[in-house]
Order: sequence, then C-alpha cells, then structure tokens
Amino acid sequence: MGRSFDQSKTPYYDAVLNYINKGRTAFHMPGHARGRIAPQEMIELLGEKIYQADLTEVEGLDYLHKPEGVVKEAQELAADAFGADHSFFLVNGSTVGVVAMILAAVKPGEKLIVQRNSHRSVIAGLTLGNVEPVFIQTRFHPEMGMMTGITPEDLKECIEKNPDVVAVLMTSPNYFGMAENTQELIRIARENNLTVLVDESHGVHIHFHPQLPTSAVDLGADMVTQSVHKTLPSLTQTSILHLNGDRIPRRRVQTLLAYLQTSSPSYLFMASLDVVRKQMALQGKELIDKAIQTADDARVEIKKLRHIYSFRDEVIGNYGICDFDPTKLTICVKNTGYTGFELEKLLNQDFNIEIELADLSNILCFITAGNTQNDIAHLMEALSYYDQHIIPVQSRDITKLPRIPNLILTPTETFALEPVLMDFEVADGQIAFEVIAPYPPGIPYTCPGEIITQEVIDLVTELRSIGSVVQGVSIDNKVKVVKY
Ligand SMILES: Cc1ncc(COP(=O)(O)O)c(C=O)c1O
Repeated sequence: MGRSFDQSKTPYYDAVLNYINKGRTAFHMPGHARGRIAPQEMIELLGEKIYQADLTEVEGLDYLHKPEGVVKEAQELAADAFGADHSFFLVNGSTVGVVAMILAAVKPGEKLIVQRNSHRSVIAGLTLGNVEPVFIQTRFHPEMGMMTGITPEDLKECIEKNPDVVAVLMTSPNYFGMAENTQELIRIARENNLTVLVDESHGVHIHFHPQLPTSAVDLGADMVTQSVHKTLPSLTQTSILHLNGDRIPRRRVQTLLAYLQTSSPSYLFMASLDVVRKQMALQGKELIDKAIQTADDARVEIKKLRHIYSFRDEVIGNYGICDFDPTKLTICVKNTGYTGFELEKLLNQDFNIEIELADLSNILCFITAGNTQNDIAHLMEALSYYDQHIIPVQSRDITKLPRIPNLILTPTETFALEPVLMDFEVADGQIAFEVIAPYPPGIPYTCPGEIITQEVIDLVTELRSIGSVVQGVSIDNKVKVVKY
C-alpha cells in the first residue's frame, strides 16, 4: 500500500509563513532587507508583504537542491497529486525541465528522436548534451495552417530507419490544445526499448479533468515537464518535472537540476507551486469545468459570426490529432482578410484585449476559470466588429511545410564554430548556425547544423512579406551561417 497524502496540506507555504512571523533580524540576502530598502516604486506596485516572503535558503526552509524537509514534503504531495513517482519543482520554467530531461536520458554522442514542432529549449538540450537529433516531421493542418503532432506510424518509420536511437522526445498537447496519440506512441517506444520524454508544457492541468487528453504522466512516460505557470494560477517561471519508473536515476535528475538552476531559488515561486498543487488537487475538476464551460460559451457566440470561426472536437481524427483540450480557444480569422498578426495588433489598440498568440490565420485565447462572462462579451464585441468590417481577402495561406533539411553538423559541433553573417537570399547550401523559425510559434524550418535550402528561403521570404516575424533572419535580411 502506498503512502496516503493529505492534499489539503501546504507544508512549504506554511513554513514560509511561520518564518516570516518569527520576525528575525536579518543580515542576509536578498539585499532589500525584507523590503526595508526596497525602491518605493516597487512597494507601490507590489506592496511590502511580497518582500517579506522573498526569501532564499534561510534556516528551516529546506533546500531545493537537497530536499530533506518541507521542500521534500511539498514535492511528494505534488507527485501524489499529479500521479508521478517523483516530482521536482522548477524555478526556471519548462525550459530548464526540457534541457534536464535530455541530459538525464541521453548520453553524449547518442541519438534522440525529436518531433519537429519542439520548443527551442530542445535545441539547448541537444547542444549542451552533445546529442544528435533525429527529427520527425510534424503533421500539418493545411486549413488551420498549423503544425499538429506526429502519428504512431511516423514514429515506427523513424525507429526502423534509425535503429540506434535511445530515446524519444514528444511535445503534446501542442500550443493549440491538440494532443497526439501519446498512449500508442509510448507503447511503440517501449516495444523498441526507448526512453520516453514528454514536453507537456501546455498540459499541466489535463491530469485533473476526465474530459481532457490523458497526461503522459498517467501513461507512464519516463519524464514529463509541465509549465505550471502557463495554464494554472502560479507565478511566472514556475514549472514541474515528473519522473516515473527506474530507467533514469532520481539522483541524476536532482544533480542536473542543481547544475542548471539558480542556487538561490525564489521561495515565492516554490510557495506558489505548493499552494497551486493543493488548489488543483482539491478543486481542479471544478475549476476546469468552469474554464471549459466559458470556452464553449464563447464558441457558441463565435458560431453566429459569418467570417470568423472556431473549432472543438471536430479536429480530432486527422493530422495526428487524437484528442483536444477545449480550454484553448483558437479563433480562425483568415476569412476576414486580416492575418492573425494584424488582428492581434488591432485587438490591442482598438479594444484593449491581449491574446496569447497569433499566427498567420489564427488567434489563440487561453481560457481559465479566471475568465468571466464579461471577458467573453468583450472579446465578442471585438470579433463581431471585425466580422462586419472585413477587408478584401488576399491569398496568404501557407499550406505546406518545408522538408526537413539534411543535418551536416550536430548542434554541439555547430555551436563550437564561428558564425558569419550573410544575405539570406543567397544562403542556399550554407550550414545554419541558429534556428530559423517563424515566430510565433517558433517551430524550426532549419535547425543549427542543417543545410539552408532554397525551399526554406522561398517560404521564409513569402512569410515575411505577409507580416510574419522569423527568428534567425534579421530585419535587414541577414542570416548566421557556419564559417567553414
Ligand atoms: C512546447 C513548449 N515547451 C517548453 C516551453 C518553455 O516553457 P517555459 O516558458 O515554462 O520555460 C514552451 C514555452 O512557450 C513551449 O511552448
């Protein structure tokens, strides 16, 4: 029988509160001396209390990198709440979680399967770990103009062609809430003795509601990283890394996180993680019910518009999409004549609305239990306006992805060399020094060490001409290539 946990407890938060109440005379960092000399502007913005709780590494409050007291207890409660064997609090977002997963699971010189629509932290992990990527091209939804996920067939084919791979790194659900067939992907990986790493940055909440895609933690992935700050009410930068089974030693993960993260972790961050864990364990389903209902109410209203539309479960079944998280409200605006980028700006300027993300054809709103009917009414006022004031629709769909270019140097080999700047239009055949990716969502067309192809040059030029920002290509159209 496992240990039973009382999820109403908040050991870390309580310890911070008790410590503050001791009123100890302070001769230690941070230099604001519990707020006594904090700049007035910051006190006006945040109040004094936050400075009292802004502690690090003081007596009785345990150590993130050597947890034996309240941090250990809080992390054990988190593991129980999220269904993992072990959980580690992260104070540098999922960015550090992704890097740690790669370094923990893959040795220098080994090969890792990576689905192409990965976050740039994957490139950091590959570079630091001297890991050779084997990319799987992501399926592409041509009407929505977005990358979706990979299919079990894609993974099988990749393993057959690359029998020397040791692990696979998947990203699901994607930014837009589309989940791939993680269960089957994990089964195939297991059949081939691969370690399974999952970037679930956009799905920290899915474990807490039966109508949402199943979390990779519940499906037995070896390691899963989740951005708690993205969809749950914790402070920015707070994330969590879960470890299951014994393929990867816990000690190794603990050491890596101590190498990669600050030695002065914010106690505000960790207290925030502790309390949000309690909130989700006790009220998660109820909060997510409310978010789903609010998003669905918005979808009902959007359906009444002529040119703007949204989707829900109808996306399931195609392009590798196996499940969907309805709290992600994607609004397709391409029939208004505006790009998503243009509409994002207009929503800012004319309606004082800030959305999560825009791409060429869509805008994305994250809906949480914190959104009210008034928020939806305000959004609908704006959408109705643009639905009635469309501009001539230009053909600006990007309906294909460039082929994945050949990898000539690994990311580590590339990083060791010197970059030179050259004109992007004539870079065909050069080796890229940096990621070239339309942003957002920042999914690479070319990765460091890959050949820059004419196909990528043409596609990027077209995208930039219609307002896309492209990482890795400067405003004056220069690109960094490897000098060789
Ligand atoms: C898929 C994915 N993975 C990882 C990250 C990094 O997460 P964080 O901001 O928590 O460091 C992001 C951030 O947008 C992401 O989209």
